[in-house]
Amino acid sequence: MDYRKEFPIFENGEKHYLDTAATSQKPKKVLDKVVQYYERYNGNPGRGSHELSMKASEIMDSARETVRQFINAEKTEEIIFTKSTTESINLIAYSYGMEFINEGDEILLGISNHHANIVPWQFVAKKKKAKIKYVELDDDGQFDLNDYKYKLSAKTKIVAVSGVVNVTGVIQPVKEIIEAAHRKNIPVLIDAAQSIVHFKHDVQKLDADFLVFSGHKLFAPMGIGVMYGKKELLDKMPPFLYGGDMIEFVTEQESTFAPLPNKFEGGTQNVGGAVGLKEAIDFIQAIGYDKIDKIGKELDMKALFEIKRLDFVETYCTENVERTGIIAFNVKGVHSHDVAFILDSYHVGVRSGHHCAQPLMNYIGIPSCCRASFGIYNDDEDIAKLVEGLKKVKEVFGI
Ligand code: ALA
Repeated sequence: MDYRKEFPIFENGEKHYLDTAATSQKPKKVLDKVVQYYERYNGNPGRGSHELSMKASEIMDSARETVRQFINAEKTEEIIFTKSTTESINLIAYSYGMEFINEGDEILLGISNHHANIVPWQFVAKKKKAKIKYVELDDDGQFDLNDYKYKLSAKTKIVAVSGVVNVTGVIQPVKEIIEAAHRKNIPVLIDAAQSIVHFKHDVQKLDADFLVFSGHKLFAPMGIGVMYGKKELLDKMPPFLYGGDMIEFVTEQESTFAPLPNKFEGGTQNVGGAVGLKEAIDFIQAIGYDKIDKIGKELDMKALFEIKRLDFVETYCTENVERTGIIAFNVKGVHSHDVAFILDSYHVGVRSGHHCAQPLMNYIGIPSCCRASFGIYNDDEDIAKLVEGLKKVKEVFGI
């Protein structure tokens, strides 16, 4: 099946889009549903008893239920809509972190975390005089479980890690990470922004305390994200965003708050985004994760084989560790932005720079790199163009 045909963006001009880890392209089915929502059903959910407002509420409920089933949460009220993974993590940091982390406590993060899963914790640590510790990587670039178990302590109040590293595509041992933390009653936050694109997440099987992701990496529009939290944790957490629709009663000086999920959904919600997310999840499920994973891994293997044949290119992964369709590389002696600029003249789109992961860059010992990431719409021609473009870089820089 040629999935590329389902994505209108590829109808207009030559595009070798290898930046799916930054954001996925959107299938026509998703785009059509979003337009249909605004053309036929647009209303403000939970704000009226007229037809369109009630329809919008129904649509939100249905999207929430789709997400619940998608990650196998036990209860629909455990699904909180946000605008992004970043907002979801900020919610947890401001609410859980500021409430339950105190002076002398420790926050344990992966050194390969995205900035979104570092900077909010730095805020909490500074405000509460807590300490951030980082789990290092082993020789294969994998999350070092020995270092992790050594650093987990009675002082650790939360563990926050990525399911898949956004720079290298390494699949991290989330199940083991959660099990080890739970033996010491420490909650774990999984940043699934990159991983949920590639494989099934079952929050009950994982026993994840918090799991967050964005719609836009998952074929949905930008501006919709998810924060899953176990009900017993969400119940004891204070609200994050205060205002309309998250209250029960408001007097001049005091307010009481709505039950879950509304308690965490202050302000008008992104119904169009939720419609898109629901449709995107249906789209993924119709294809099946097995197929998506197979396509990503095959493209990754082929591209890595070709790239490794270029002696002027270095990569940052070994064969000993399981990865998704993401390859980090540099052309030796050339800045990643220059490489990306030349690749762009071949209509090849890769991300360059520090990938919102400066601690990881420092850890690897490079200032920046390029990243090629694959989606179901990529094919061998995209890889051939990438290789052609890299050879041009060599020629231009005379290396
Ligand atoms: N988090 C996205 C990335 O890794 C933007 O590129």
